[in-house]
Amino acid sequence: MTGKSPARPRLTDRRDLWWVEPLLTVVTLVAFGIYALWVALQNQNYEWGPYLSPFYSPKLEASWWPFSSAFLVLWAPLGFRATCYYYRKAYYRAFFWDPPACAVAEMRKSYTGERQFPFVLNNLHRYFWYIIVVVTAFLWYDTVRAFFFEDGFGVGVGSLVMLVNVVLLSYYTFSCHSFRHLAGGCMDCVSANKVRHGLWKGISQLNLKHSLWAWLSMFSVALTDAYIRLVASGVITDLRIF
Ligand code: FES
Repeated sequence: MTGKSPARPRLTDRRDLWWVEPLLTVVTLVAFGIYALWVALQNQNYEWGPYLSPFYSPKLEASWWPFSSAFLVLWAPLGFRATCYYYRKAYYRAFFWDPPACAVAEMRKSYTGERQFPFVLNNLHRYFWYIIVVVTAFLWYDTVRAFFFEDGFGVGVGSLVMLVNVVLLSYYTFSCHSFRHLAGGCMDCVSANKVRHGLWKGISQLNLKHSLWAWLSMFSVALTDAYIRLVASGVITDLRIF
């Protein structure tokens, strides 16, 4: 007997910077979460002229609701993103180290999949998708409105910012895995139905870059709100291009 305790298993043999991606994921998601909460609590400066912040769309005015109207809206996009297949991979790795990266040991001793609370709620993703399609339709309506000022049709920087945002959000929404399954799933031979097969192939192409749309649309939502907020509070002036 030497009295030495057995050597602890190594976390990984990887020598590259595998921890950078989970670290960036944590920092970005926490920053976005704090910003979204701050924006929701403000309940002001979310619209200017024809522009409306995506955090407050659709615009709901409920006299019975004592809190910021953003809370009536935000549960849908936040629930959609929290249950998204891509974000699940990202935050399971980054927050729970489950595992944090390929060929790196995970921290949890047991694995229950997504069969227990709260992770069983991730199975609601397809229902959030139905809701978010409606929200996206409202965002397109807001974007069209952003081109109509008091003196008629026009193009401001804010109009273009809102247009880029809704395009990125649409890429994210319609590249969803659940939508892909809706188009091509539950059939023995999807190619037998030309419409569904064509739709499935189109969504599959978009789906290849789903993670990219997820991040870009998240940044664009925050930046669009920030732009409208700065204009509405008088910090900057919206430039009218046309
Ligand atoms: S899988 Fe990401 S939005 Fe549906």
